[in-house]
Amino acid sequence: MDALPNAPPMRDRRTLQGRLESNSLKGGAGSNRMRLMTTVRLGRSSVEVSPLGVGTWAWGDRGLWQYGKEFGEPEISQAFSTSVARGVTFFDTAEVYGRGVSERILGRISKGQEVTIATKFFPWPWRSSAAVGRALDASLARLQRTSVDLYQVHWPPPWLSTRRLMSAFADAVRSGKVRAVGVSNYSASQMRKAHAALAEHDLVLASNQVEYSLLRRKPEVNGVADACRELGIALIAYSPLALGALSGKYSAERLPAGPRRWMRPFRGENLKHAAPLLELLRSLAEAKAATCSQIALRWLIDRGALPIPGAKNAAQAEENAGALRISLAPAEREALERASLRWKR
Ligand SMILES: NC(=O)c1ccc[n+]([C@@H]2O[C@H](COP(=O)([O-])OP(=O)(O)OC[C@H]3O[C@@H](n4cnc5c(N)ncnc54)[C@H](OP(=O)(O)O)[C@@H]3O)[C@@H](O)[C@H]2O)c1
Repeated sequence: MDALPNAPPMRDRRTLQGRLESNSLKGGAGSNRMRLMTTVRLGRSSVEVSPLGVGTWAWGDRGLWQYGKEFGEPEISQAFSTSVARGVTFFDTAEVYGRGVSERILGRISKGQEVTIATKFFPWPWRSSAAVGRALDASLARLQRTSVDLYQVHWPPPWLSTRRLMSAFADAVRSGKVRAVGVSNYSASQMRKAHAALAEHDLVLASNQVEYSLLRRKPEVNGVADACRELGIALIAYSPLALGALSGKYSAERLPAGPRRWMRPFRGENLKHAAPLLELLRSLAEAKAATCSQIALRWLIDRGALPIPGAKNAAQAEENAGALRISLAPAEREALERASLRWKR
């Protein structure tokens, strides 16, 4: 499969600004330095985003992600400012994350900052397209904004007509509260329908956010990546570190705290099967003075996807942003792809 349309082809890249920033971060070099910020276009929309984002599902989520035990708002605030200082300015949230707490935290800490924000409408259970406007207003209030850069349907609702739903999203764009429309967890055919429905309003479908990582390569074989390339839709890769498994810090003996240990990457024999891939990540990381997470994220960026790794603190944000500064040789990418063939189905 060829790289996707938002792979960093130079013509799509644009140097936004050179900024003199004071590096006052913990563990930072402590010196002022000029940082060139590069952005990519989100599909064929007018929205420009950093080629790597930050996912905020964990922000406020006490059950799965242990918010309030392992980390709280001070750590999140540092993750936010570290990301922004490193040129990672695209933040993905959703009305359901932490039941609105993720949006609220993001609203507080991003106030007055030049960042790009995506959120999501959760249609379940049985919401109608009439709920879109109200849900959007509630999200905007929590985010303390008058508009969002990307508004996404979180999961396709089978009981709702795509035309009607996209029409409600088109109304949101016309109202000036939304800059671009995206979907999430849509199949190739559902994406095509959404794309066609928006075209009736002279709008484009900017993105489809799906699970994609070295431990989940389905988008390469289920038609989603192909449809993205064909229609010029950005593929936003969620859970790009396989919920932390690709960071290399977990093993059958050392599982994450809380119910995450029962989720796919950690369940049953899955971590055992992933051992050779994790070993390859470690050896590539060592050779490049990088980390497993950085290699896993760089591979996705090179595939043309836009990864949005979750970060709970400054150290994780710093490390993940480092993926923008490393490169993989073609032979290294091929080795990763061979080692992860099992997850390409
Ligand atoms: N649209 C959807 O249906 C959907 C579904 C899932 C996710 N998403 C989006 O995608 C985002 C990212 O996915 P995700 O949060 O599920 O999983 P992920 O990005 O694959 O993993 C994130 C977790 O990995 C660990 N981690 C992150 N960076 C690390 C580093 N550098 N070193 C070591 N550990 C690190 C952290 O947890 P620990 O430190 O606790 O291990 C972090 O919370 C979400 O926040 C959300 O915005 C969307």
